[in-house]
Amino acid sequence: MTKKPVFPFTKEFPALARGLGGRKMIYLDSACTALKMRSAAGAHNELLLHLGGCGGRRSSHALARAVEELYGGARADAAVFTGAQSPDEIIFTSGATEAANIFAGGFPFTPEKNEVILSPLEHNSVFLPFYNLSKTGKIKLKVMPLKGFKPDIKAFARMLSKRTALVCAARASNFFGGVIDLKSIAELARQAGAAVFSDDAQYAPTHPVGAASSGADALAFSGHKLGAPFGTGVLWVKKALLNRLNPFKVGGGVVKSVERSGSGFEVEYLRDYQGFEAGIQNYAGAFAMARAFKTLSALGHENIRAHMAEIVSYAYERLSAVRKIKVLGEPEDLKNGALLPFVPAGRAFSPADLNIFLNTYYKDRFIAVRTGRHCADLASLNSGLAETARLSFFVYTSKRDIDVFISALQKYLSFL
Ligand SMILES: Cc1ncc(COP(=O)(O)O)c(C=O)c1O
Repeated sequence: MTKKPVFPFTKEFPALARGLGGRKMIYLDSACTALKMRSAAGAHNELLLHLGGCGGRRSSHALARAVEELYGGARADAAVFTGAQSPDEIIFTSGATEAANIFAGGFPFTPEKNEVILSPLEHNSVFLPFYNLSKTGKIKLKVMPLKGFKPDIKAFARMLSKRTALVCAARASNFFGGVIDLKSIAELARQAGAAVFSDDAQYAPTHPVGAASSGADALAFSGHKLGAPFGTGVLWVKKALLNRLNPFKVGGGVVKSVERSGSGFEVEYLRDYQGFEAGIQNYAGAFAMARAFKTLSALGHENIRAHMAEIVSYAYERLSAVRKIKVLGEPEDLKNGALLPFVPAGRAFSPADLNIFLNTYYKDRFIAVRTGRHCADLASLNSGLAETARLSFFVYTSKRDIDVFISALQKYLSFL
């Protein structure tokens, strides 16, 4: 019988015990990036130091074949973690940002079907590639209205038309937390003949991704937000759409053939993921990310979810009892995510000032939270919230971390 994992799950995260500059670290900024896993860092090091040779089917010597074999294994592991139908649907990227750029740049828009509808919560990594395309005149960009802290689905239904080519909706917002009803959005989009892209950067670390049954045709997430090294991520595109996607980032490794054609040239690109991974790849990063997937899967998604719900609910309860602040959102929704946003009630203080306090007041510790717009300008503009403070959690977060934060917050507020 396998042993039930113990939460908070800290043993894989040496940064927690080490702290910084002799000070203990309370890390409540996992939505920006998670602390890194020992097992993933070990795998990273192993590949770099022992197999740091040419890969990507360029060379055919023994070392290149060994690298390629591990890279293929990482793709198979990523397909399982993502819930893809096949490893061929998995494109390794440097993160959700690169994934969204590759997807936006390669999407097969036509002059008749060139409208993109974004959720009002999209991160700039999804908003800006489409914004740039709209500036060239290639597409028309629309943004769903916000209702409470979620996309307004009824209003969205009215925005769809036969010109809608694509709908983008982040399954979990990095601004408001919780999760959205992607299935309803995807169903409406499907009825209008539009494809769906889900930004799962905040979803994948603590939920089973289940790509094939998500309702999306494509989705993306970052490895570094789930304990893998920086510069890692996944773009999943359903086979039928992948076959129609144009290679956007091009270079070595994506070419099937280059021939002379008339006075010029004719290039044929490789199919599946192979047409989208140009240049030497982050083999070590992909291998390490696969190790992180395995570590999380061994913990069990249900167990991870239960821990996140417990931490979010506890933080909600403690935070909502503090005067001079207002927690945004409902506990029943927030507990489905892994972060908690709050604002000063009646401009009692500035989040940036609180941030300085949390990093400088105590000699023996500091508390890492995030304040500002969180690179989610659409969410900020649509809600009218210029900035928020955000506590975000992962498998290693404990109730004690929350207690330490709350007592620091109360200390700070006592000075106002
Ligand atoms: C919702 C969301 N999407 C996309 C990104 C971009 O991820 P990355 O910087 O790893 O590319 C982030 C990063 O914070 C995010 O929160």
